[in-house]
Amino acid sequence: MVWPRSRGFAAIAMVALELQPFSALAQSTSAIQVDGTSFALNGDNVSYRFHVDNETGDLITDHFGGLVTEDPISVEIDFVQGWVTKIGRVRREFPDLGRGDFRTPAFQIRQAQGYTVSQFQYQSHDVLEGKPGLPGLPSTFGDSEDASTLVVHLYDNYSSVAADLSYSIFPKYDSIVRSVNITNKGNGTITLEKLASLSVDLPDEDLDLLELKGDWSREGHRVRRKVDVGTQGFQSTAGYSSHLHNPFLALVSSTATESQGNAWGFSLVYTGSFAVDVEKGSQGLTRATIGLNPLQFSWKLRPGQTFTSPECVSVFSEAGVGGMSRQFHRLYRKHLMKSKFAEETRPSLLNSWEGLTYGINESSVTRLAQESADLGAKLFVMDDGWFGNKHPRTSDTAGLGDWQVNKDLFPNGLEALVDDVRDMGLQFGLWFEPEMVNPVSELYEKHPDWAIHAGSYPRTETRNQLVLNLGLPEVQEFVIDSVSNILNSAPITYVKWDNNRGIHETPDPNLDHRYMLGVYRVFEELTSRFPDVLWEGCASGGGRFDPGILQWFPQVWTSDDTDAVERIAIQFGTSLVYPPSAMGAHVSHVPNGVTQRSTSVSFRAHVAMMGGSFGLELDPQDLDEDERAQIPDLLALAEKINPIIVRGDFWRLALPEDTDYPAGQFISEDGSQVVLFAFQTRATINNAWPWFRLQGLDPQARYSVGDTGRTLSGKTLMNAGIQLQFEGDYDSQVIILEKQ
Ligand SMILES: *[C@@H]1O[C@H](CO)[C@@H](O)[C@H](O)[C@H]1NC(C)=O
Ligand SMILES: *[C@@H]1O[C@H](CO)[C@@H](O)[C@H](O)[C@H]1NC(C)=O
Ligand SMILES: *[C@@H]1O[C@H](CO)[C@@H](O)[C@H](O)[C@H]1NC(C)=O
Ligand SMILES: *[C@@H]1O[C@H](CO)[C@@H](O)[C@H](O)[C@H]1NC(C)=O
Ligand SMILES: *[C@@H]1O[C@H](CO)[C@@H](O)[C@H](O)[C@H]1NC(C)=O
Ligand SMILES: *[C@@H]1O[C@H](CO)[C@@H](O)[C@H](O)[C@H]1NC(C)=O
Repeated sequence: MVWPRSRGFAAIAMVALELQPFSALAQSTSAIQVDGTSFALNGDNVSYRFHVDNETGDLITDHFGGLVTEDPISVEIDFVQGWVTKIGRVRREFPDLGRGDFRTPAFQIRQAQGYTVSQFQYQSHDVLEGKPGLPGLPSTFGDSEDASTLVVHLYDNYSSVAADLSYSIFPKYDSIVRSVNITNKGNGTITLEKLASLSVDLPDEDLDLLELKGDWSREGHRVRRKVDVGTQGFQSTAGYSSHLHNPFLALVSSTATESQGNAWGFSLVYTGSFAVDVEKGSQGLTRATIGLNPLQFSWKLRPGQTFTSPECVSVFSEAGVGGMSRQFHRLYRKHLMKSKFAEETRPSLLNSWEGLTYGINESSVTRLAQESADLGAKLFVMDDGWFGNKHPRTSDTAGLGDWQVNKDLFPNGLEALVDDVRDMGLQFGLWFEPEMVNPVSELYEKHPDWAIHAGSYPRTETRNQLVLNLGLPEVQEFVIDSVSNILNSAPITYVKWDNNRGIHETPDPNLDHRYMLGVYRVFEELTSRFPDVLWEGCASGGGRFDPGILQWFPQVWTSDDTDAVERIAIQFGTSLVYPPSAMGAHVSHVPNGVTQRSTSVSFRAHVAMMGGSFGLELDPQDLDEDERAQIPDLLALAEKINPIIVRGDFWRLALPEDTDYPAGQFISEDGSQVVLFAFQTRATINNAWPWFRLQGLDPQARYSVGDTGRTLSGKTLMNAGIQLQFEGDYDSQVIILEKQ
């Protein structure tokens, strides 16, 4: 590369050269190649390339997609007609607004003088082994064998603002993780009005956008639509990632399917409000930005201060949407989840909520626990309703915030109860909702100012509760102490951490992000203090099913909707980005509490055992004889296949939105075991029975097929498949295949 014409840029570059401790820096690793100021990141099946424009110091994208071995031939833009100048016509890594690129920018900085123009130019770069963490934020991790990192240092010499763009590649997972930090090196205070974690320009003309939409009890429904001219996108303003949209976007070529075609997935490692913008500009390029929601962000940086964005994981696959999903699953299991349980078999559980709701006391809980043990569960979870003394938690109107066991309901205390349950051969788990407070509570009487509020505006309640301001260090300490005290008081091995409302009135736009930094500090502290506890996230179901949570909690309650038919769509949708191992899925009573649908207990259990954390959420005393009799065998089956669910690869063979015969398939890590789940959601007559063609098998190997007594080759199973017969609506089959 030749140095620029512009003298200022040359001067900066020379300063950088003088300052760089070259000896300490690798210029390349096997996954990162640097040629002057051209950069290439190569995974097993992905290449990501960009270079410094030698005239402007801007970073220009050359390629993001399947493997290439050099820069492709492209046409130099040397003449433009019209208002859109050259930088508005090229693919840029860190685009600004205000200098002729009229597309959505990656960032916007209000400079000390008030204007929002920026001009970042390349200054220097570093190549590091491994993947560094981000201060105070969840992030993927890996050592030199797993990942390499390129940091590109940019500088705006007009305002003395520095930006470091970080690119980490996990070659085995075809994943590139990006984040950015901004440092104010000037003398005045600047304000970050927008800072996306990632901005990417793709050249493809014809792309579809894939995302997960929903609402309470309807999370994770897949939507696919054409990327059209103009901007399209989605966001959360709920203060949390939310049920409404997930911080995940895929752009796929319009012809891509589950198993073929190009798919780019982008997953924001964050739990707060976020925004995704996809813009197809006048020149036909498609730009996507994903990051903090600018509506809830306006961050001041005083001289010397730095702000770090959350990171965004991008995955590319030429094996379609399914290929993309499996890369996310593997990466997240091995390089995002820190819990020791991330790839461990999970105990099947019985949770008291749907069976007892607020009917909790020593005798009802002991009875329910004994019935759980009799059925074969391994973990008993006492849900809401166990705490509060002055304002007992006997309904959702009081008690949140008062994390002491209720002495009337549990006269012998928590420890005695836990000991009794453990004597039945069960582990004991407990429900908390530590980020919340009921106005009717001792906590609120003492600290009304701890609830998030904006001056004298009404504090709007939902579910009779308010949100505690976790941005305040004293509130963080209170939560850490309250939860620690209970966990230290008895041998509790599982915690369900719930969070049942969104954030409303905030005192300033940055509260949401400060709150998240506070929550992350609390999670880090508690999970380090109690590493042997299995932590499960929950937020009215899947209101916070996001990669930020997964850093500390290896599983999340997927939805309050336990209707098995709906759950197929929710779990298949959620699996676009999140591993099935992370999904909590339970069998509840019929007719289902939210949809009123009735399905057989085996159908409900088969759907639930596709999730890593299988359980029952019912009172066995309400089951009819026949249902009850089936449960021990269903629990045993769930337990038998759980190692494959938790560590294996998942293939969506047929989608519930496309067919009455949705199907999914797991392959164990070593390829020796396969589990096929096949469902009939609507019975018809005089149609041929469906075929299920397996995927990802060893074509040469032979597999025994369930209890058919037959063995078939991988080729036969993949190219011809297995034909199955069903009986009535909501019928299901689970078939285990073993490699011979
Ligand atoms: C910039 O780089 C291009 C391509 O490498 C080269 O053709 C051109 O002469 C360079 N321009 C300057 C001003 O150095
Ligand atoms: C920044 O660069 C411009 C253009 O090269 C130059 O005119 C200006 O003097 C530089 N400013 C500073 C503060 O270095
Ligand atoms: C990578 O590409 C090779 C060759 O096309 C293919 O066999 C392999 O399955 C791909 N791997 C993944 C993970 O997509
Ligand atoms: C900004 O990010 C880069 C890359 O991660 C890192 O090396 C640098 O230390 C960060 N700067 C600050 C002040 O945190
Ligand atoms: C900041 O102020 C000091 C003292 O006035 C001055 O020497 C320095 O150049 C200024 N730095 C920048 C980046 O403007
Ligand atoms: C315990 O709760 C059950 C309902 O779940 C109730 O029938 C029973 O009377 C309660 N027992 C006591 C001692 O409060």
